[in-house]
Amino acid sequence: MRPRVLIDCDPGHDDAIMMVCAAAFADVVGITTVNGNVGLHHTTRNALAIAELLGWDVPVHAGAARPLIADPVDASEVHGEDGMHGTTLPTPSRPAGDDGIGFLIEATRQEEGLHLIATGPLTNVALALRVDPGFARRLAGITFMGGGALGGNVTVAAEFNVFADPEAAAIVLTAECPVRMCGLDLTHQVTGNDALLQRLRAVAGPAANLTREILETELAGYGRYASAAAEPPLHDPVALLAVTHPHLFQEELRPIHVELAGSHSRGTTHVERRVAAGSAVTGEPTTSWVHTVDGAAAIDAIVEACARWS
Ligand code: RIB
Ligand code: CA
Repeated sequence: MRPRVLIDCDPGHDDAIMMVCAAAFADVVGITTVNGNVGLHHTTRNALAIAELLGWDVPVHAGAARPLIADPVDASEVHGEDGMHGTTLPTPSRPAGDDGIGFLIEATRQEEGLHLIATGPLTNVALALRVDPGFARRLAGITFMGGGALGGNVTVAAEFNVFADPEAAAIVLTAECPVRMCGLDLTHQVTGNDALLQRLRAVAGPAANLTREILETELAGYGRYASAAAEPPLHDPVALLAVTHPHLFQEELRPIHVELAGSHSRGTTHVERRVAAGSAVTGEPTTSWVHTVDGAAAIDAIVEACARWS
């Protein structure tokens, strides 16, 4: 069963691999882009270029150019100045729309029950939730890559997507629909390495080539920036697979709070892991904390997705 989804992202290396998996395993109603890994101009152009490479005429609409309140940050040291360092992408042959928030809202008015998958800062999702109070209730749910239960990557405590716009993450975590968090503690269970490179080299086509270029670039540069993972985690495709391959994942409903203050802790996601103090005791609203994945099966799915273009 191919779930029907909306995607919000900030391509970005791992967002690109997520897009390959989305095209292979889901019916994507549209893609919105957000300021994140790099600026909105680049994330939008990258989304169009990746779709062009795959021969995919999915609608693409640009969203927010900066966070709700936080000063913009980027991850160009990881993804390169244009966000897709080390890859070969075509020049987009079509423009993007320029009202991503309006597109998200209208898409859910046209069709209820869509899954919204977010793999960048949550600015667009938060704005759609604030502009239209009925937006959340028309969604099947929101699954996002962000946060984590065991520390951060952009700071010792905070993960990049949440750190980039903590206020937006706090709004999403209280949305009136099922919300699922795929944090670093989950995505670190699915990493790229030479074994995956070898498998990709045996697959022809543009999707395998792009994924291989990304992985070669990340492996070559790994260690230049802080990470608690020994190998480059494939963050964003994991969040996509949590919707298309839910049988590979385990999750629990837990209160999760975003730290908005704190000189060292802003952007931290505090996952209530004390069993006795879960929502049954505190009565607090809960988020589905996606905490375990069959990593080998997830890698198999990524290779399978790439092979769709061979
Ligand atoms: O912390 C990892 C997340 O930040 C991923 O979505 C990556 O693309 C960056 O946006
Ligand atoms: Ca991303």
